Amino acid sequence: MNSLIGIDLGSYNLKAVEIVSDKKELRMENLFLKEIPYGLLADDNQEKITDFRRGFLKEIISRRLADSKVSIALPYEMVMMERFSVASASNDELSSIMKWEMADKFKIPAEKANIDYILLDKAGDLQGNRLNVLGLAVLKDETIKLINEIQNFGVEVVSLQPSNVAITNLLIDQGAIKEDEVVGILDLGASQSSFSVIFQGNIHFYRNLTVNGNMITKAISDYCDFAPTDAEHAKRRIGLVTEPKYSEDKSFYVTLGSDKQSVYAITTQLERLVSDIERSFKYLSFKLTFSKIQKMNKIVLLGAGANLRGIADFITTRLYVPVEIIDPFKKLVYVIQRFDADYLKQIGPTIANSVGACSILETGE
Ligand SMILES: Nc1ncnc2c1ncn2[C@@H]1O[C@H](COP(=O)(O)OP(=O)(O)OP(=O)(O)O)[C@@H](O)[C@H]1O
Ligand SMILES: [Mg+2]
Repeated sequence: MNSLIGIDLGSYNLKAVEIVSDKKELRMENLFLKEIPYGLLADDNQEKITDFRRGFLKEIISRRLADSKVSIALPYEMVMMERFSVASASNDELSSIMKWEMADKFKIPAEKANIDYILLDKAGDLQGNRLNVLGLAVLKDETIKLINEIQNFGVEVVSLQPSNVAITNLLIDQGAIKEDEVVGILDLGASQSSFSVIFQGNIHFYRNLTVNGNMITKAISDYCDFAPTDAEHAKRRIGLVTEPKYSEDKSFYVTLGSDKQSVYAITTQLERLVSDIERSFKYLSFKLTFSKIQKMNKIVLLGAGANLRGIADFITTRLYVPVEIIDPFKKLVYVIQRFDADYLKQIGPTIANSVGACSILETGE
């Protein structure tokens, strides 16, 4: 396999990149990003949204290099992921134990889900002879539907990865996660914002947080009495950073009252987001790992919500953890004239999951 299209079909933005493995380098050939029109989302018009997705897929697949296959970053709503501590068992036994544990935890019959697991480590003396295991499940019917949606265009889907697995692999390839580091991954999407914790190259924890991009926009809309499109605009323009402007007679600076209100609405949501992360991490630290994992070395931010002005500083100040915004293009070669560097910087966090889906490509060294 030497070229792949990584696809991430979000509820707000549709994204894809095409990457070629060429001798000693990974080269970006194509990049596609389309926002689903607001009108379709506002009306929750599923039929038209499906048509829009189809148009997107048709375009990227018709413009692909002849032999490119597809790798999908699975949306979080299709994935169930949980860390379990189970009695020590042989590989065969573990497989049945995990099927049972996952079915019990998520209330899904085993035949309706594809279940997989990753052995994390031996739990150590505190828990006796037990194993720590990350269980993963995806619903079969939904997966088949998604694969068919893409394969209908005559292209082969060769890999499916939960988005946080794709990002973990990307960060490891980039050398951005050291073996003994504890790294939080925060994907701020429109309808999902997910928090995962990586340790020793594996995901040890995953939670879908309550606050997401749609909720922040709604908070601005409600608090400032703005129409939803104006609230979205204010969120992107202001974020957490108010900029004083000249007063009408240009004699002094003022900050618009409505700007301050937007910042207030955003801050209330981000306070909730941060306390959700704090609570989740404490649970992982004390309850799941008996303080083996004690603090995060850093948090990596992605998803278009990572573009919220001032968010990285806000999280750092509240959690005392350094925050980095992901750069998915770090190890890729691309033609600068085709992909303007400023544009790439701006869309990096948005497109990151689709780049991550291509991390199964290796250079042909
Ligand atoms: N500059 C910005 N500042 C703040 N928020 C932004 C900015 N640009 C986009 N967003 C928000 O990012 C969200 C979309 O992010 P993203 O594209 O990662 O979502 P998605 O992957 O389509 O959705 P999901 O993963 O939830 O299905 C929207 O809520 C949008 O309002
Ligand atoms: Mg997303």
